[in-house]
Amino acid sequence: MDLTSESTTAAVTESFAETADPRLREILQELVPHLHDFVRKVRLTLPEWEAAIRFLTAVGQKCDANRQEFILLSDVLGVSMLVETINGQEAGTESTVLGPFHVVASPERENGDSIDLVGGANPCVVTGRVLDTSGTPLTGATVDVWQCSEDGFYDVQQPDVQPLGNGRGLFHTDTEGRFAFRTVVPSHYPIPTDGPVGQLLLATGRHPYRPAHIHFIADAPGHRRLTTHIFVAGSPYLDSDAVFAVKKSLIADFREVDDPEQARRHGVDNPFRTASIDLVLEADRVG
Ligand code: BEZ
Ligand code: FE
Repeated sequence: MDLTSESTTAAVTESFAETADPRLREILQELVPHLHDFVRKVRLTLPEWEAAIRFLTAVGQKCDANRQEFILLSDVLGVSMLVETINGQEAGTESTVLGPFHVVASPERENGDSIDLVGGANPCVVTGRVLDTSGTPLTGATVDVWQCSEDGFYDVQQPDVQPLGNGRGLFHTDTEGRFAFRTVVPSHYPIPTDGPVGQLLLATGRHPYRPAHIHFIADAPGHRRLTTHIFVAGSPYLDSDAVFAVKKSLIADFREVDDPEQARRHGVDNPFRTASIDLVLEADRVG
């Protein structure tokens, strides 16, 4: 049978008809017509198709245990944020991207501990609560935190400069749902540009910067896990995040406190900055 540019689409879609997993079948049978429509619409040439294959190959070759170039590609194309948003909570705190710098196990820390292991210049105290959607505190929730340094690098990007675990901590909420840690005010920073995703940004005249933020994953039994950030109010790039992940509700004031007594109580130098966030988790969806 001779296939035309139109009938190929139906043939490929039909070829997945016997896929045992119904969700996999649905996804593939939706994907194929979109992919084929795209190829027809832009009239993709063979050299362009070859360049795309070379690009995706380079993306894969850039990946290793610490570097996830495919997530980065998904991020700069806005796909990560789209998936987060359509799967996000309806009533709880808004979610945002995980990003490639989360490590599987952050070091366990006590409330009030410092996650700044290198002694930065701009101390900061972050406090917060984990709550359910009716405002009830969730005791024993875990709060996984990670952030870059004041210079805009994560520990895994600077193994010779920062000890592993710098800027990271796994906290547990107390009986009032509270968590607290000492840190430094993170900097805005560029996403990694030394790979094919960086070349894509360069070729398209896009900057690679993310506004300053701290990452959180909050988890409590019977509740939906929340992956989010707080963004530092006033940071550059809040309006042009390279990965499209800013939500207004997540921008927090990192207020300056000039009070030696409060600084002493928190164990930081005076003056210091402080930020506060409530992480509101929806109950697990049944079914
Ligand atoms: C991050 O915030 O860690 C991040 C998110 C997306 C791409 C690169 C970095
Ligand atoms: Fe980040």
